[in-house]
Amino acid sequence: MKGLFITGTDTGVGKTVVSCSLAAAFARRGHTVGVMKPCETGDGDDAARLIAATGRPLPLGDVSPYRFALPASPEVAALAAGATIDLTRILESFETIARGSDMTLVEGAGGLLVPLGAGRNMADLARRLGLPIVIVARPSLGTVNHTLLTIEAARRRGLRVLGVILSRTREPAEPDEPSNPVAIARYGEVPILGTLPRLPSDDLSQLAEAAERHLALDRLLSLL
Ligand SMILES: Nc1ncnc2c1ncn2[C@@H]1O[C@H](COP(=O)(O)OP(=O)(O)O)[C@@H](O)[C@H]1O
Ligand SMILES: [Mg+2]
Repeated sequence: MKGLFITGTDTGVGKTVVSCSLAAAFARRGHTVGVMKPCETGDGDDAARLIAATGRPLPLGDVSPYRFALPASPEVAALAAGATIDLTRILESFETIARGSDMTLVEGAGGLLVPLGAGRNMADLARRLGLPIVIVARPSLGTVNHTLLTIEAARRRGLRVLGVILSRTREPAEPDEPSNPVAIARYGEVPILGTLPRLPSDDLSQLAEAAERHLALDRLLSLL
């Protein structure tokens, strides 16, 4: 089953924007794309946006088996709801979606070591699903350190890092921005799969076009 796990150096770095761009681009190429947002908290709409990007009527219960009302991290929100997050249940949902898809994109919550309870974290989930990871990072100052830390943590846990995608929430403002991808590639020994520019809207055809233009989609597909 082809798939990838999209993690980030932090929350709010562009995981959903990147995941929706990839899903929309692959769907437009004719792939049957599956998506998951295994844990979603508060009034988050990542799962709904991911489903929309596939152009398929995927059931929310499979895409997002754990949804909690408290706007907090998955472990805290689950605890508040008196629930526990069971990786086997997420794996079963993944298998249901992946069975009917050419490829499945799974968006984590926050970064790689975000706790899921019972001593487990997002890295354990990616391993349990048997998926390689793509790391979404900010293009700006601080990103080299955050991205290298994420790469090192992933590899220590036996995860395969397919590459890094940067996502711009604003125009380049800092003098180190052009050199950051170079430093990440060199010190992290990892492919940079592109930088998504700041996109004015989340219109699906714009997201798909941006992915086609700015991300190394063929390379990514060849790594799956
Ligand atoms: N390429 C981009 N262009 C415009 N806005 C972006 C881009 N990447 C991220 N953002 C914005 O930054 C915020 C966080 O992005 P999001 O994808 O939700 O992050 P995450 O899923 O990592 O929490 C959102 O408001 C989103 O619209
Ligand atoms: Mg998100």
